[in-house]
Parts: sequence; structure tokens; C-alpha cells
Amino acid sequence: MEILRFERSSRTDSCYHFFQNSLRAFACEPMLSRSSRTDSRALLSALPSPVCFLSLVGLETLNSTQNTKNEKKKKKKSSSKHAKKMPTNSCTKNNPSISLESYGHRKSTATLYRFKRGLLVNAFQTRFDFFDTKRKKKTKKNLIQKRAYAARAINETNDTEEHVLSRSSASTSEALSLSDEVRKEFPIIVNTKNEQGMAVIYLDSAATSQKPTKVLEAHSNFYRQSNANVHRAVHYLSAKATDEYERARAKVGQFVAARSDREIVFTRNASEAINLVANTFGEKFVREGDEIVLSVAEHHSNIVPWQLLCERKKAKIVFIKLNENEELDLEELEKVVNEKTKIVSLPHVSNVLGFTSDVEKIVKIAKKFDAKVVLDACQSVPHMPVNVQELGVDFLVASGHKMCGPSGIGFLWGKYELLEQMPPWMGGGEMIQDVYLEKSTYALPPGRFEAGTPAIAEAVALGAACDYLSAIGMDRVHRFELELGAYLYSELSKIKGVRIYGPKPETALGGGRAALCAFNVQNVNCQDICTLLDQLHAVGCRSGHHCTQPLHRYLDCSGSARASLYIYNDARDVDAFISALKDVLSFLGEDLSSPDVAFSASVAH
Ligand SMILES: Cc1ncc(COP(=O)(O)O)c(C=O)c1O
Repeated sequence: MEILRFERSSRTDSCYHFFQNSLRAFACEPMLSRSSRTDSRALLSALPSPVCFLSLVGLETLNSTQNTKNEKKKKKKSSSKHAKKMPTNSCTKNNPSISLESYGHRKSTATLYRFKRGLLVNAFQTRFDFFDTKRKKKTKKNLIQKRAYAARAINETNDTEEHVLSRSSASTSEALSLSDEVRKEFPIIVNTKNEQGMAVIYLDSAATSQKPTKVLEAHSNFYRQSNANVHRAVHYLSAKATDEYERARAKVGQFVAARSDREIVFTRNASEAINLVANTFGEKFVREGDEIVLSVAEHHSNIVPWQLLCERKKAKIVFIKLNENEELDLEELEKVVNEKTKIVSLPHVSNVLGFTSDVEKIVKIAKKFDAKVVLDACQSVPHMPVNVQELGVDFLVASGHKMCGPSGIGFLWGKYELLEQMPPWMGGGEMIQDVYLEKSTYALPPGRFEAGTPAIAEAVALGAACDYLSAIGMDRVHRFELELGAYLYSELSKIKGVRIYGPKPETALGGGRAALCAFNVQNVNCQDICTLLDQLHAVGCRSGHHCTQPLHRYLDCSGSARASLYIYNDARDVDAFISALKDVLSFLGEDLSSPDVAFSASVAH
């Protein structure tokens, strides 16, 4: 049996009190000892990824209560000999150790979540009488707040008028109109309530966006009315499907102002699009000793494909850092780009820092040495007008699922003259011109890069997403998000001990920050913040490294909490998030009275 102890590190101090109380609530005394961070990490790494430190307490305690129930049942039914066969890892006064064995790595995430939820409800609602006097008062207060939020949240889904009227003072005409217009078109945003009946507030659109009805319909209508394979047969349905698929390509092309729809290659997602460039352009043009320039702020998808290429080619990656505003340091870029540089691949908008890169300057620097520029536009294409011709880059990648489209579809835009020079990456049907037993010749782009049956319905739905966003107007989307992003930043920065990563909205390049904030609160674990935001307030934020481990290391933290917004969010969602966060922090024993300037201002590099 694997026995783990709760360990106490400076990072989890505040949570420790909470855990202790939770465990006491079940008449359990945790074994606590001062320990190194390594031990804590070992504990965390032993858990399935979505399960945090907090959840472990919950799960184990639930497990023990369930075991006790089971034991009672079994005792009734069978002999005491049989009962002895029950797991001996229950968390009781006499055996306070925490074991992962009984639920460990075998239970699904969904099960874990259900367990976690059930337990927390117990921990907070039914057993707070075990808490010490001070905690008791606080808990009662928090429960009252929790119920108030729940009541408000439930009203919210039923009463959109009230939602509009009681909006925060930060709302302006732009914020008011756009969110109100579109919100009702996202069924999941309007209808979703959690198990306690609270309306879910979705603040994780940087990970994936929700989908409007028009996109959902385009997807299902394809299967209802047009389904057949594309580019293969002469019959009616095949022609119809091919037509819709190619029309979707044209829509995506128009969305990013490509010169021709033949410059759009459909991929599964942005990661695949970057891998495609690395395995085709990179494979052909990068040689031993060449250099590829990236930044410390890259998503893993814009690091790992280049690492694999550089390993194969004995080439080198050079990383630029951030400047004092936590934007890309383009002065450093100017210094590192030289005749050895073959590719410069950088984010258009950072998924953690919220900055927008000065692409014009990046292109100017790269072009001095004829290096090709790849733009990771995952966080820009859904949120602002993107014109590949004006940007002047060579390749651009984006994912459909972040721009109201379905998952399983993304795209690479590339200058046609470059695509033409690139060899195929994956072989299979439809990417060929002629196949002989000895060798094959290949189709022209984009077909050359789309081996096998593509994600047809997904492409069609992505086309519908482009139509949907174009009808709103990407200028309008961008203005709305700049405003909402600035409001989020300003409200969050008022909370004591909060450190928001990335530039301030007023000094950020491109007229402001993206509508997202990744942050930490001094001495509080980001995973615990997000778990409690979800469980007490139904606010869905993401915690962790957001696929940017090197960036988090650079920022001297192992992860952060992130709230990311989109067109269906509004100032009221921001208000709900801020109140929920304050409540969570005060529950965890944080003093919220005045901003902690030292921590908030610290730039850890
Ligand atoms: C900046 C950035 N680049 C790349 C990706 C990878 O996108 P996907 O997982 O859809 O391939 C993401 C996704 O979060 C991202 O935010």
C-alpha cells in the first residue's frame, strides 16, 4: 500500500490550516511535518493531473466514510472475518495516514470530480461544528456568502433582464451591447448549472471557447444533409460535401485575409500546424548549426516540435526573454537574429501574459537575415482582426476550438510560394498526384499536406464560426475584449497579495491586454484557488502551467490561476469572479485588507 503524508511547504501554508480543519471535521488528525518542496512535489506528481492537494483530502476522507458505510453494511451481512478483508487505509483518528491506493490512478477524472464535490459539500456544510472557534465564525460567514451567490447565480440564468440591469458600473456601451447580443446564442453559457444548481460562470476560453448555436447546427446539418467523403467521388453527396469543405477553406482564408484559399491547410489543431511547418519547411531548409529563435513565453506546442527538429538536424534553439513590462524583449531579438537564423517562431498574443507582440518589428528583424517568421496566432485569431498580408509573416497557425469552432480542426496559413517548396509530411490518400509501386508524386498545396479523410464536418463548422465572428465584426470583438480585459485586470489587482503576470493594460502594446489574467496569490496554491472557485462559486478558471512550463519557471512559480474571457462574458462575470476570489481567499485565512505591494510588483527574473 502506498502511504503518503501531507507535507507542509511555505507555498501551501494557508491551505494547510484549511486541510487540517477539513480533516478534523471527519475526526481525522493529519500527520504533518515540515518538509522540502521536493516531497510536496512528489505528492502532487503522484496524483492524476486534475486532482489537487485539496482534492486529495476530500477524496480520501470520502473514501474513508464510504468504507465505513460499506463496513457497516457488510458487518450486518457477513461474519467479522469477512469484514476484516476491507481496506485498512481508512483515515481515522488511529490511522491518520493518507493513501492513494483505493481510488488512486484507476478512477476516471469524472468520478474523481464527483467524489471531490460530494466531499467538499460535506466538509463545508455538515461538519463545521468541529472547527475551532475562530474558523467556525469564518466558515459560517462564508457559507452565508456562498448561499447568497448561489441564489443570485440561479436567478441569473432565469432572468436575463435582471442580468442586464444589475450590471457593474464598469460596463460601457460596447461591453453592454456585445455580450448581451451574443450570450443567448451560446446554449452552454445560458443553461449550465452545477450539481448545486448554481449557474456556471465559464472563465476558461483561452483553453477552449464555447460554441454558438449556428456552429453546432452547421456541424450536425453536415451529417444530416451533406455527409460523404470529399474529393473522391462524382456522386451528388460527395460533390456537395466537397463543395462545403472547400467553401469552409475559403471562409477561413478570408477570415485571415489570405491571398488565396490554397494557402490554408486544414490540420487537427494549431499544434499539428506547427509540427507540419517543422516537419516540412524545417526538414528541408534547416541544417546543422542553424538556429531557430523562440521566446520563453511559448506554449509547449511552439517549443517541442522545434526541439525535435533541432535534435534531428543538430540545429540550435535560441530563446529570447521578456522586457521589464513582461512583453517580448525585441531588443534581445535584434541581438540574437543573425545569418544562422532560419526560423523565428513567436506568439501573436500570449496565453499567459496577455501581451500582443509587435509583429511588424519582429518581421523587420527576421527579414534582415531572410529568416522565416511563424506566428502562433492561437490567442489572436479568435479575438482581433488578423490580416496575414499586413502582418507580413510567412506562416500562421490557429485552432478552431478557440474561435467558436469545434475541436479537431485548426489551420496553417502559409505563403503559397513557400508551401509549394515544402515536401509532404504525412503520406496517404488524397495528398498524391500519382502513385507507382516504386515512388509517388504529390498533389499541389494544400492537398499535399492533408493526407487521408479530413475532419470534414469540423471544417464546415469552422467555416460557420468564421461567418459568425465576421458577422459580429472582429474590430468590435477586439474593442470589447480590450475593455473587459482592462476591467478584469484593474479589479484583480486591487486584491492584496495578487500578482498578475504580463503588462499593465495602460502600457501594453497594441492598445491593451488580452481579456485574460494569469495570477498567483501570495502563499496560496493556485490549484486550491481554482478548486474552491469552482466548488463554492461555480466559477470555472484554469490552474496549472497552461502548457507554458518554461515561462512559469522564468516567472519563478510552478503554476498560476487564469481567468480568460470571451464575447459571452461581461463585467458582471468579472464581478462575480472577484467576489468569489475574495471569498475563497478569506476562507483560506488570507487578509485582504490592503494590496501587498511587494508581492504584486515583484518581477521574478
Ligand atoms: C498560444 C497557444 N499556442 C498553441 C496552443 C495549442 O493549441 P492546440 O492545443 O489547439 O493545438 C495554445 C492552446 O492553448 C495556445 O494558447
